[in-house]
Amino acid sequence: MVNTLDATFTRGSAWKPDLFKGKVVFVTGGAGTICRVQTEALVLLGCKAAIVGRSKDRTIKAAEEISQLSSEGCVLPICNIDVRNFKQMEDAVKQAVHAFGRIDYVIAGAAGNFICDFAHLSANAFKTVVDIDLLGSFNTVKACFDELLKNRGSIIFVSATLHYYGVPYQSHVGAAKAGIDALSNALAVELGPMGVRSNCIAPGPIEGSEGVKRLITKQYAENSRKMVPLQRLGTTRDIAEATVFLLSPASSYVNGAILVVDGGSWHVGTHF
Ligand code: HXC
Repeated sequence: MVNTLDATFTRGSAWKPDLFKGKVVFVTGGAGTICRVQTEALVLLGCKAAIVGRSKDRTIKAAEEISQLSSEGCVLPICNIDVRNFKQMEDAVKQAVHAFGRIDYVIAGAAGNFICDFAHLSANAFKTVVDIDLLGSFNTVKACFDELLKNRGSIIFVSATLHYYGVPYQSHVGAAKAGIDALSNALAVELGPMGVRSNCIAPGPIEGSEGVKRLITKQYAENSRKMVPLQRLGTTRDIAEATVFLLSPASSYVNGAILVVDGGSWHVGTHF
């Protein structure tokens, strides 16, 4: 079970409850683990959200559950959308704008991954992950571009830390995530003058996340916990807090940043 958020997020929090009132976020991967909690945080702070997913049931269920966090209940599920397909992304953006009238923020978080050594990784397997993670992120921002320009919006890409090293069995994801960092940096420079900020969040090992479930064993998680400088795995709330910061006016001069949220792990090599 993912560690989802509840109303206590706004209690004693650094953030004003209506911080994102009147704003709309468009999220790919919003029915997953990390992006779902990013969405929850924004909704708890007054944002409306459109979450885009491939699976109809999963996306609708997540939207219903996240809606319950807000009395306004404003989470729109947009289903049967594959981020690899630009036409589908354009259609998803149309649905979001039709429902809410605007898009202010984009979280490009849809990702695919599996463990596979290079010897067994087919060209199509490599391409599949690069297409979901990197091309999918491009398609997401490209499809939202007019709205971002109109509303002087802000982009968050969901990256990783595994490409700071050569991590075995992850050549496909490492290459894709490095590309995402490069894409974000280029957009920060190119779109900054137009009032659009672009930043990445690079999560480390986050308890309960899809990445941890797929990539590391319980034993490894226990061992790595001790090696993380902050002596714990990350929580989904840690990612939520970073997300709120990057979309809030508190970060209005932060552009082209890669915000690593990993307890300091990558500095000591405690990575996936
Ligand atoms: C080797 C594999 C494989 C595996 C699929 N392939 N799974 N190769 N090991 N475990 C190969 C297939 O054989 C095929 O190549 C090619 O990849 C495409 O496979 P499909 O199943 O047709 O692709 P598709 O249906 O599009 O599914 C994409 C997927 C799937 C990535 C393979 O797992 C998926 O949809 N995942 C979405 C959810 C997800 O992965 N979440 C993880 C997020 S965690 P051939 O040559 O046979 O045609 C995350 C953390 C990243 O991203 C950061 C980590 C630190």
